[in-house]
Amino acid sequence: MSSEKEIKRVTTLTLSWLKKNNKKISALTAYDFITAKILEEAGIDVILIGDSLGNVFQGNDTTLPVTMDEMIYHTKAVCRAITRAMIVVDLPFMSYQLSVDEGFRNAGRILKETSAGAVKLEGGIHIAETVKKITDAGIPVMGHIGLTPQSIHKFGSYRERGKDFTEAEEIFNDAKAIEQAGAFAIVLEKIPSSLAERITNNLKIPTIGIGAGVHCDGQILVTPDMLGLNVDFHPRFVRHYAKLADQITIAVKNYIDDVKGKNFPSEDESY
Ligand code: KIV
Repeated sequence: MSSEKEIKRVTTLTLSWLKKNNKKISALTAYDFITAKILEEAGIDVILIGDSLGNVFQGNDTTLPVTMDEMIYHTKAVCRAITRAMIVVDLPFMSYQLSVDEGFRNAGRILKETSAGAVKLEGGIHIAETVKKITDAGIPVMGHIGLTPQSIHKFGSYRERGKDFTEAEEIFNDAKAIEQAGAFAIVLEKIPSSLAERITNNLKIPTIGIGAGVHCDGQILVTPDMLGLNVDFHPRFVRHYAKLADQITIAVKNYIDDVKGKNFPSEDESY
């Protein structure tokens, strides 16, 4: 491959090529067919069916209630829209924490029942054995360290991680362990930019940042956040590329006015 334009299907090899050639990786989440189709046609590299759907789709406070069946349901909808982007699926809370075999079985289930190409697991050294077992079986794994929302009750808050020396060293060692276990990429969430830079420079696999600064090999955001749909959530790492909640409100108000004022439907819109 000599240029990004030649990419027909984004794979683990493509992401590795992008890192080697100092080109950035773009990633966003999707949970439904229509959004996935828009992201795909816009040229996104990676689509994550994130368990953030527990927050932004289901309205829960945390990602913990999300089930395997729900992840598979949303993944099937997204996959129907995608021919180019790489599709990565979160293994939800308690689908891999119980045992290595349980994680292995659930990762396999995602690839068997959907046409996704990879799974994502949260955690470092303590899940390295699971990552190894899954990747040894030919299932690509994306890691996820730093702020790991599935451990919210352990940490007690969504604060930035890795600010002090000890925690920064732990996160660095986690990154190395996940790479060694065979992951093809790793999400770095809400850690200092300098730590993300150090990890990025010390790993061969690409790093995908969210709230981790500009030095990562790629960036990911939760799509409803960056589109300005999730108006109650605005941490500083989210840039609003649109204000869709405002636009939808105006559209719906106009529709209500038209219906009530008997201005919709018109003759042309009737049979
Ligand atoms: O669930 C999710 O959307 C994620 C991203 C925030 C990386 O894990």
